Amino acid sequence: MGKEWADARRAANVARLGETLATALAGRMGITFELGCGHGHWLAAYAAAHPDEFCVGIDLITHRVERSVRKQTLGKLDNVIFLKAEATEFLEALPPAILLRKIFILYPDPWPKKKHHKNRFINAENLDLLARRSAAGTRLHFRTDDADYFTWTNDFLATHARWQVVPGIEWPFEQKTFFEERMKDKRDVIADLAE
Ligand SMILES: C[S@@+](CC[C@H](N)C(=O)[O-])C[C@H]1O[C@@H](n2cnc3c(N)ncnc32)[C@H](O)[C@@H]1O
Repeated sequence: MGKEWADARRAANVARLGETLATALAGRMGITFELGCGHGHWLAAYAAAHPDEFCVGIDLITHRVERSVRKQTLGKLDNVIFLKAEATEFLEALPPAILLRKIFILYPDPWPKKKHHKNRFINAENLDLLARRSAAGTRLHFRTDDADYFTWTNDFLATHARWQVVPGIEWPFEQKTFFEERMKDKRDVIADLAE
C-alpha cells in the first residue's frame, strides 16, 4: 500500500466518521469512551448501569462491532453507540466541542514480541492524542493480563507531562469482557489528566 493511498484512505475514514459523530453526538459535551470494545460486553453493561453518561465504543473489527450493536439494541440502550473505527482516526474525527471524560482500554492487544512492541496503542504520541481530546480530571482506565504491557504503560504514564497515575483506586465497574473470560490475570492502571 503506497503512502499516498494510505493517506487518502485515512482522510476518507476521518471525514466519514466526522459526519457520523456530528450527528450521533449532536449537543453533547462529553463522552465515556472505550477503545477496542471487542464484543461490547463491558460497555453495554456499563451504559446500562450509568444512564447519565453517554458512551461510545469503537473497534476495528466489523463482526465485533456488529455483536456490540446487537447488545445495544437488545438492551434498548439509548446512551451508547458502537462504531467501527480506528482509534487515532476516531480521535481526529471527534468534533472539537466533545471531550473524553472517561477512557477505558480493556485487554488491548499486548504485542508480546519485542519487535512488535511498536504496535502497542500506548505510547507517548497516543497519550498526547488522548490528552488533547480530554479535559483536566479525565480518568484513563487501562486493564491488561500482560505483565510487560502493564509495566510499559506505567512507564509511559510516569514520563508523560499530564497523565498522572493514581494508585489505589478501585476499578469502577466490573463486567467480564470476552477476553477477560479467557485470561488468568488482571492488572489495572488508572491515571488522571492534570491541568
Ligand atoms: C484483545 S481485544 C480485547 C477486546 C475487549 N476489550 C475485551 O476485553 O474483550 C483488543 C481489541 O482492540 C481492537 N483494536 C486494536 N487496535 C485498535 C485501534 N487502533 N482502534 C480500535 N480498535 C482497536 C481489536 O480489534 C480488538 O477487538
